[in-house]
Amino acid sequence: MRFGNQKSRSETLITGSPIVSRLYGLFGRRFGSPVNVFGLDIGLNTIKICQVFRQGNKIKPLSAGMFTAGIVASPLPGLLSEAETDLISLAGIIKKLHSDTKVSTKKGVLGIPEAQIFSRVIEMPKMKEEELAEALPWEAEQMIPLPLTEVNLDWQVLGEVAGEGGIPKIKVFLIAAPIIVIQKYQKVMELAGLELAAIETNLLASSRALLPPNCAPTMIVDMGSSSTEIGIVDKGMLVFTRSIPTAGEALTRAISTSLSMEIAQAEQYKIAYGLEDSPLEGKIRKVLLPVMEVIAGEIKKVHLYWNDNEKEPIKNVVLSGGTANLPGTTALLTQALGIEVQIGNPLAALEMDEKLRAGLVNKSGLLTVAVGLSEKEV
Ligand SMILES: Nc1ncnc2c1ncn2[C@@H]1O[C@H](COP(=O)(O)OP(=O)(O)OP(=O)(O)O)[C@@H](O)[C@H]1O
Ligand SMILES: [Mg+2]
Repeated sequence: MRFGNQKSRSETLITGSPIVSRLYGLFGRRFGSPVNVFGLDIGLNTIKICQVFRQGNKIKPLSAGMFTAGIVASPLPGLLSEAETDLISLAGIIKKLHSDTKVSTKKGVLGIPEAQIFSRVIEMPKMKEEELAEALPWEAEQMIPLPLTEVNLDWQVLGEVAGEGGIPKIKVFLIAAPIIVIQKYQKVMELAGLELAAIETNLLASSRALLPPNCAPTMIVDMGSSSTEIGIVDKGMLVFTRSIPTAGEALTRAISTSLSMEIAQAEQYKIAYGLEDSPLEGKIRKVLLPVMEVIAGEIKKVHLYWNDNEKEPIKNVVLSGGTANLPGTTALLTQALGIEVQIGNPLAALEMDEKLRAGLVNKSGLLTVAVGLSEKEV
């Protein structure tokens, strides 16, 4: 098997043009209007963009694409970098991707990783919305290591629970995002000539893209390049999140270090063989297994924690992100957790040409966050 050098590349997966011409050229507004925002998922390895449009309660994809960093030069310093030059080059990539995919709006919803924010579910006495708005900053102060003046707070009331003595309490999902991080998102969009319409967490976007409303407790796991994000969605709401700094890049590095291979070659071996038994006398599997077991171990802890503390156990696990495609991953996790594990498809609920859908079958998991962001109503 020959492996070429992997270079950075941009791919247009769903181009605006053919569908747009049907939309506006031939049938006017018959298929509905494009949603006025696009979703942008700036990963450490891949940047993904997506725009959808609505027709009644149906959603159709309009444009989608991705830019994958060259493995040798990866990860993209992107939003983690403090250097102005890195932000400028990131903005250049985003601008090109936006134009290549013919996205028809400049307003973008950006995804933010769990590792960049602070979030927790807390219980509060039952109170009115205005009282909650006054009380939550006090709670947030206990939860985050930054002064409140340096974060943006947001929250969602998840529901009511019976407290001690039957006194009703409410469960609130509290999120604090550092202002400095938000400003960086604003800056990169400005540099790209675009507008930041909203920011939401990657897991919130994934849950919108992958799960039906009111689903039974389900675990969603985004296995990316630098991190694995684990969330639990109950009755359509994200109620638990965790992020661990182990994902695809760690797997590639493990092969590169243990088998003395160039990073680019290690990446190719990882994707080709993953956890399969036979190739190279099982050497790739042997190197990858301990790293995958770290990830599986964390997912298992979250699974057990939930099942020990909540009435309704987790029914299944839905995976997304590039590393979910590692050969053998679904089988490993099914065995570790003892429940159904599958790779989610954010395009499953979208109305689209079946040929196009079939052509995207191996890419769709990568688009999960971008699809979810693009469906956000701003
Ligand atoms: N078929 C495959 N098998 C195994 N790994 C894969 C496959 N395709 C992509 N990957 C890995 O997936 C990762 C990229 O996935 P993804 O785009 O979800 O990450 P990211 O969003 O850029 O990263 P992060 O979310 O951590 O910032 C890379 O580590 C890449 O090597
Ligand atoms: Mg990602």
